[in-house]
Amino acid sequence: MKILVMGHKGMLGSDLMDVLGRGHEVTGVDVGEFDITSGTDCARVVREFRPEAVVNAAAYTDVDGCETHRDACFAVNADGVRNVAEACRAAGAKAVHYSTDYVFDGTKGDPYLEEDPCRPINAYGESKRRGEEALVETLERHVLIRTAWLYGRQGKNFVKAILAKARDEGTLRVVDDQVGSPTFTLDLAQATKLLIERDCLGTYHVTNRGVCSWYDFARRILEYAQVAGVTVVPIPSSELDRKARRPAYSVLSNRKFMEATQKTMRPWQVALNDYLTGQSHIHR
Ligand SMILES: NC(=O)c1ccc[n+]([C@@H]2O[C@H](COP(=O)([O-])OP(=O)(O)OC[C@H]3O[C@@H](n4cnc5c(N)ncnc54)[C@H](OP(=O)(O)O)[C@@H]3O)[C@@H](O)[C@H]2O)c1
Repeated sequence: MKILVMGHKGMLGSDLMDVLGRGHEVTGVDVGEFDITSGTDCARVVREFRPEAVVNAAAYTDVDGCETHRDACFAVNADGVRNVAEACRAAGAKAVHYSTDYVFDGTKGDPYLEEDPCRPINAYGESKRRGEEALVETLERHVLIRTAWLYGRQGKNFVKAILAKARDEGTLRVVDDQVGSPTFTLDLAQATKLLIERDCLGTYHVTNRGVCSWYDFARRILEYAQVAGVTVVPIPSSELDRKARRPAYSVLSNRKFMEATQKTMRPWQVALNDYLTGQSHIHR
């Protein structure tokens, strides 16, 4: 299949290139080659490559930055998605797009299902919800994948931040009142490939399996990376001075994905250990 990956230099986009490139004809575009906020650019790159599927991993992902740069954030995460969907509709292509646990308010207490009501509590979540609506309204042949707490080999992420801080400081203070499911971008890219190959359409929640707090996650990162002599102190979110509020409960149910693909996602601890020990390999 011919697949165009938008945002191919990003954390998820770079793994999508590797994973989808095994078995498919894949090309990628990113900043410099196109601007997702331009309808003309989106139409041009889709027309030039003539893909059967467009996978959009381009986004404005600075959650705190979205609070102060609302226009830029909505231009990419909401209007940009409409541009992609319109370009796909004109070209007869399917669109695969990513959204986030931050479309929910985090008060549910058990895993969020695809049809649960969305009530974002920050600008990033609002912009991603608007993008979801634009996709669903514009293009019937879409796959909308909500995911959470990503880390990967490319770019900045929580795992790299904890390891860097541990090198410089003897004590780390990490929030323990937000829970979610850490997810390796390589695993998400493989799940995406499955959904495309099985021709699944609609909305799916996809994360690694299991639940932890950021505090638990930090401790496990240090344990698997064999970093000794660093103390991790649990703190409430209220002690962190961040612009955007975060949902307290960010767990997404993978049940629909499992029923559609007959596959389960790996437990987050297994994926993290693979990532940290460099064992991660691409499953064919
Ligand atoms: N990271 C997470 O924890 C997380 C959690 C849930 C959902 N998601 C979603 O998962 C998807 C992938 O996230 P990610 O963390 O892999 O993102 P990322 O690393 O920030 O990559 C996004 C890519 O999009 C590019 N981009 C930004 N503005 C653009 C524009 N105007 N035109 C074209 N390209 C543009 C970025 O380029 P520059 O770097 O040059 O700006 C970057 O290469 C996103 O939809 C995100 O919302 C992420």
